[in-house]
Amino acid sequence: MRKFPENFFWGAAASAPQTEGAALEHGKSATTWDYWFETEPERFHNNVGPKHTSNVYNQYKEDAQLMQDMSMNSYRTSISWARLLPDGKTVNEEAVAYYRDYFQTLKDKGVEPIMNLFHFDMPMWLMEKGGWEARESVDAFAFYADTAFTLFGDIIKKWATFNEPMVHIECGYLGDAHYPAVRDYKRAIQVGFHTVMAHAKAVEAYRKNKNNDGEISCILNLSPVYAKSDDEKDQHARHMADLLLIRSLLDPIVLGKFPEELIELYRKHDLLPVIEEDDLETLEANKVDFLGVNYYQPLRVQHRENPNMDVITPGSFFMGYDWPEKRINPHRGWEIYPEGIYDISMRMKNDYGNLPWFISENGMGVEGEEKFQDENGIIQDDYRIEFINDHLEFLHKSIEEGSNCFGYHLWTFVDCWSWLNSYKNRYGFYRVDIDDNFKRYPKKSSFWMKEVIEQNAIK
Ligand code: BG6
Repeated sequence: MRKFPENFFWGAAASAPQTEGAALEHGKSATTWDYWFETEPERFHNNVGPKHTSNVYNQYKEDAQLMQDMSMNSYRTSISWARLLPDGKTVNEEAVAYYRDYFQTLKDKGVEPIMNLFHFDMPMWLMEKGGWEARESVDAFAFYADTAFTLFGDIIKKWATFNEPMVHIECGYLGDAHYPAVRDYKRAIQVGFHTVMAHAKAVEAYRKNKNNDGEISCILNLSPVYAKSDDEKDQHARHMADLLLIRSLLDPIVLGKFPEELIELYRKHDLLPVIEEDDLETLEANKVDFLGVNYYQPLRVQHRENPNMDVITPGSFFMGYDWPEKRINPHRGWEIYPEGIYDISMRMKNDYGNLPWFISENGMGVEGEEKFQDENGIIQDDYRIEFINDHLEFLHKSIEEGSNCFGYHLWTFVDCWSWLNSYKNRYGFYRVDIDDNFKRYPKKSSFWMKEVIEQNAIK
């Protein structure tokens, strides 16, 4: 038996925009997702939009009971900004009543809610003013965060500001998977800078109020970066990918400053964002108490010959590399590399002061999962059990070697709606039937996980 530390946080992860439902009901205003679905529904898998998320707004009591039945002791999800402050200023009392009852219900079932504030769900009123590109977004977010701390701080003791900021930067400003779907590296860098400042100002607001007696963090998608070879050029490509995609957020959030090398690079290519006086001091003074780490797969890179330096993007400095020994999730196409969780863990220990951290997401998406359903309606997801077990083995090894990891959260509890992919890939311990009143059905992995949690150990 490989035991985990006492009081280890065993749970699942989700987000408000992917699970709540009631998209434009009970006072909630539109987010970019609501707007995008209304204007371009064909972008969404099977034309299923944000109205059809897993109905947590109406079923949170049932879900909290299922969590307790599984012996889970924590749950990481988020608050919807557009629900709490539909116009950015006025508190929606219906939202307050909903969230307070939801959080208290979780607590009463022995499930600690870890609450995140932004999971890709930009309110439309702010997007119309430029979203994260507009400086106004920094103070608007800090106001929202402070409001949430005041309203829920007596129940919530563990907070996060953002989920995977690199994803809204890349997908919205260097790709087309998030609104506004533009490709412009300079704008992407400004969006990233404002996000980091909004985070820092929220941390500052949290600490200013002496009634706030919990801890605050940010959730980053951290992938270990591996080079194709030991060749100097490939090693440099690895260094650049790590600098641009990992350290550009990890350093300011954990160490309170951007890497000098990054600033020099931006300066050299005329990509520096607009920085206001005191910004860098505010950042330095507001480091996180702990970190959330989402890990799905590593990044594998190699040197790129002759990039087009007229149009600079992160990809100008490296390119992807297909590792021949790659173990692939055949149901989603993503690489499965459990050793990566060990490498991240050791990096947190060795390079980031052994700050407390937890796995805020890890999981295996499966397309067409209903084909694994048995005659009793239970999905026989042995592949997910193997996936979780393999990752826990490497996490356990790193903890034995002194890593400061305090929890593991599977993405996700109940299958949820996922942006443009909608319900294409299923991740949950529970299957949800969106055509039959969002009924929940346990998968085999939920029974397996319950045993792991109760024993606080893997075999
Ligand atoms: C994570 C996000 O990166 O990946 C989640 O935080 C998302 O919001 C999850 O749902 C899985 O992604 P996908 O595209 O396979 O559903």
